[in-house]
Amino acid sequence: MLISDFDNAYQLDHTQMDQTHREFVDLVNQIESCDQAAFKAGFQALVTHTEAHFAAEQLLMEQSGFPATAEHTGEHQRVLGQLHQMHGRIEKGSAAMARAFVREQLPGWFKLHAITMDSALAAHLKLARNRQFQSERGLPDILTADAAGDD
Ligand SMILES: [Fe+2]
Ligand SMILES: [Fe+2]
Repeated sequence: MLISDFDNAYQLDHTQMDQTHREFVDLVNQIESCDQAAFKAGFQALVTHTEAHFAAEQLLMEQSGFPATAEHTGEHQRVLGQLHQMHGRIEKGSAAMARAFVREQLPGWFKLHAITMDSALAAHLKLARNRQFQSERGLPDILTADAAGDD
């Protein structure tokens, strides 16, 4: 298993993101020891899933006005570019690089990305939800007041 302890380490308290990340971890772990044919299909599934994963986070960032959208998007594009490059090599009959990428780089990338950029996005979304909850009930925005030192 390449990525373990999902619940403890990568839980972001955001249902959609946590579900997507669980699926990503499952896909990465599943293709670790596949034979050639299964690896090819599994890697294709991983690329398709990651495209949807990143597109969904992109939508969340845009809809919520996430301040670090450009940085987060750039990181998604970088990793997706690597996945597409590896996929192209598999299509040409060479899976060795893609296997090494899945084994040696993808787990570390996911762990770091989840606890930094995705965690920051989840925290931002939680704050936005709380603000909306208060605003809908005509309550004062205590989160903003606290942040501004306004008491
Ligand atoms: Fe993510
Ligand atoms: Fe992300």
